[in-house]
Amino acid sequence: MSNYHIKHLEEYFQVYRKSVRNPESYWEEIAEEHFMWHKRWDNVLSYDFDKPEFKWFEGAKLNITENCIDRHLRTRGDKTAILFEPNNPDEEALHISYNELHERVAKMANVLKSQGIKKGDRVCIYLPMIPELAVSVLACARIGAIHSVVFAGFSSSALATRINDSDCKLVITSDGSFRGSKTIDLKGIVDEGLKKCESVETVLVVNRINAEIDMKEGRDQWLQPLLEKAETTCAPEIMDAEDPLFILYTSGSTGTPKGMVHTTAGYMVYSAFTFKNVFQYREDDVYWCTADIGWITGHSYIVYGPLANGATTVMFEGVPSYPDYGRFWEIVEKHKVTQFYTAPTAIRALAKENLEHVEKYDLTSLKVLGTVGEPINEEAWHWYDENIGKKKSPIVDTWWQTETGGIMISPIPYSTPAIPTFATLPLPGIQPALMDEEGNEIKGNQVDGRLCIKFPWPSMARTIWGNHQRYKETYFSAFKNMYFTGDGALRDSVGYYRITGRVDDVVIVSGHNLGTAPIEDAINEHPAVAESAIVGYPHEVKGNALYGYVILKETGESRNQDNLRKEINQLISDRIGPIAKLDKIQFTNGLPKTRSGKIMRRILRKIASNDTSNLGDTSTLLNPEIVQEVMDNVIK
Ligand code: WT7
Repeated sequence: MSNYHIKHLEEYFQVYRKSVRNPESYWEEIAEEHFMWHKRWDNVLSYDFDKPEFKWFEGAKLNITENCIDRHLRTRGDKTAILFEPNNPDEEALHISYNELHERVAKMANVLKSQGIKKGDRVCIYLPMIPELAVSVLACARIGAIHSVVFAGFSSSALATRINDSDCKLVITSDGSFRGSKTIDLKGIVDEGLKKCESVETVLVVNRINAEIDMKEGRDQWLQPLLEKAETTCAPEIMDAEDPLFILYTSGSTGTPKGMVHTTAGYMVYSAFTFKNVFQYREDDVYWCTADIGWITGHSYIVYGPLANGATTVMFEGVPSYPDYGRFWEIVEKHKVTQFYTAPTAIRALAKENLEHVEKYDLTSLKVLGTVGEPINEEAWHWYDENIGKKKSPIVDTWWQTETGGIMISPIPYSTPAIPTFATLPLPGIQPALMDEEGNEIKGNQVDGRLCIKFPWPSMARTIWGNHQRYKETYFSAFKNMYFTGDGALRDSVGYYRITGRVDDVVIVSGHNLGTAPIEDAINEHPAVAESAIVGYPHEVKGNALYGYVILKETGESRNQDNLRKEINQLISDRIGPIAKLDKIQFTNGLPKTRSGKIMRRILRKIASNDTSNLGDTSTLLNPEIVQEVMDNVIK
């Protein structure tokens, strides 16, 4: 029986039981057999849910890039590691072999060193989906610098907030990016953001679009000439198992974004192990995950997980609609993609288009299909299964989070029978629990509750950068001795899990995790706005869309409400990014509040969702009369 590569259901159950009975020996065996260490660990796991503190493979020494690159050179040096597919289909795809990747990473690492970057320094990476993005990530890991990738769709102020939160010394960006038929002025966004960032000493700029840009004397440098001069080898920094590998920001239901800190050894072991199993990856496969490396999905399942397995991983620069809605399938045919991993929102958007876009292409190379980021509805699941997988490729509905570092609940293809809308069973080592509101575990099947994990796993985030107290409060205080996910879930009669959605004030829009508080803060900056409340409501393509209730300072009928709506969305776009824009904005004279002054979002959610049959008891509200008024003015 192989612990590392599960091949049928019985084996899954055997492995799962073993992993739960003795997690330490289970993970130890995997870590020992499948990775390269400079020194073995002294202790597989120590943990304390109260502090909270989790240490995996403590005492071990390693460098993750040796595991992702160097050790493959002897057997797979010429194999394609990264297959880059540009935005423009007429531009040639780039096959970067493991040998080439090794050299590119070394050069980039040497450039970072020459700019004074050392182990432990934070480097912000704000790049489009071009090879330099993956190379920069790996170059940081090579020298022990902590990367903080910020999705290049975030605005200048969102970028500045993230740079300042972790005091990044250096930013890697590009002159611009291609996105479908448009270009985006990334460097301009960086310049704007950096006006508010004192920690940044250096900006390295990739030339991607040949744009005329301002280069700030003494701060900005073109990357290419530096790379050309750089040495082609770079000795890896030997890291401790628990040294931070990266910070990745995710929204919270309140306050500033949370810089989730992932450490080295446990993250490596778990992302590699889950990649291999969930995608049933085999040596000659061509794996493609359509996410952006700016999200955790890209970190774990475009970069680290695939490369740790010596895989070929596709990086796509463009969008699914350019030059037309057949682009994804054209790429699948062109590169003979075997595993395809995307978000339900993309599937729903493509399912709305003419089927000819799919039928034109040969998709017979596909073996496994995956989804991630939000619940997938039954209709989208069937469309994916029938039209893309032709009913022969298993679909893995993978549930996990930025905080979990890797996939937690998912079918294993060809082992776990999949059913639509169910993430099915926990992966080995993962011990889910459903909890009631009183803090009791709900045992048995056909039950639902709040989803928690009751035992540590190797790739869990270890803290929130600079705010361990918030880490404790957010994840370890709702339920004793458990990690609380923020999601609700049900367990059906055979023990399969279905994720039902967030139970907090986070809304998942098109698979993007958006906290309502930062959006409200942005809106409230508008001089005409007194107060606001954001909720999610079901949306056909995006899963959820955002609905804003806004109270104006003066209720002058004279104000042009459409202009105000535009200004509010512009403000959100500037402060956070276009992904956080509101689909509907209702101006209102008041919001339902509890006697202690807390906005009753539950009621607002129901009104926005057109589900007002059962609003619950509103009599205890401070202002019960407002409910009818809000309902009367709802935007359909
Ligand atoms: C939240 C985490 C982890 C990759 C991308 C999102 C929701 C994620 C599923 C799924 C239902 C899902 C949850 C979770 N979510 N995958 N398969 N089914 N919901 O990472 O931005 O940290 O968001 O996404 O609500 O808590 P993230």
